[in-house]
Amino acid sequence: MVDPKDRPSRASEAFFGRRHGKTIRPQQAAALESGLRAYGLDLSAPAPADLGTLFKSDVSAFQLEIGFGGGEHLLHRAAEVPATGFIGVEPFVNGMAKMMTALGKAPLANLKVYDDDATRLLDWLPPASLDGIDLLYPDPWPKKKHWKRRFVGPANLGRFARVLKAGGRFRFASDIDSYVNWTLLACRTNGSFAWLASDAADWHRPYEGWPGTRYEAKAIREGRRPAYLTFIRKG
Ligand SMILES: C[S@@+](CC[C@H](N)C(=O)[O-])C[C@H]1O[C@@H](n2cnc3c(N)ncnc32)[C@H](O)[C@@H]1O
Repeated sequence: MVDPKDRPSRASEAFFGRRHGKTIRPQQAAALESGLRAYGLDLSAPAPADLGTLFKSDVSAFQLEIGFGGGEHLLHRAAEVPATGFIGVEPFVNGMAKMMTALGKAPLANLKVYDDDATRLLDWLPPASLDGIDLLYPDPWPKKKHWKRRFVGPANLGRFARVLKAGGRFRFASDIDSYVNWTLLACRTNGSFAWLASDAADWHRPYEGWPGTRYEAKAIREGRRPAYLTFIRKG
């Protein structure tokens, strides 16, 4: 359980980024509106005990991606594994508009989205309901005075531990060494996660079938080296 003292009460607890970027073109705005109607999750109703009822197609496993940016990785994975239901979260309106424009052209029946702080969705989900959580290049907050804003911390790892099934997987990718070390330490302190690393090279080996992300491509162009961590929710 998440200790209440680790969960500050804020309207938007863990989102500190920008909600809006460049002005959205009318066509994209229309795609965003109709896309959110079709793909958006309504958190005002309680979550169903069986998450499968949220999706248009039959799905038997559930995967969450937090902060999907423009959605490139999420779209790739959802198209690749139609038997898994994917939930993507992104509060940045331009990212969500991009995603909805892509879905307008190539719809996916095994995908749902949420356009606000992921902590709200995590608190809405039933316990032990997810097979995996991907946190790919979360906002790095490299300055020490901002480390508290990082998505990984005691409260959110408590949330992950609650919603992941035993044996479920938490994947964390980052190009910021201090955040990688921070996450290893936080998972060790939490105690519910085992780090899966068979050898030292593992750390820098991309996940299987990895399509990359937009943020990652920029980090590599700028000379930073990505790290890919995988943790298993202990039983
Ligand atoms: C550095 S970007 C990476 C985007 C994408 N994963 C990629 O690799 O290209 C981090 C993303 O996380 C989103 N984000 C930040 N805080 C969040 C929160 N509390 N809940 C959900 N998403 C969040 C931001 O809006 C941003 O799009």
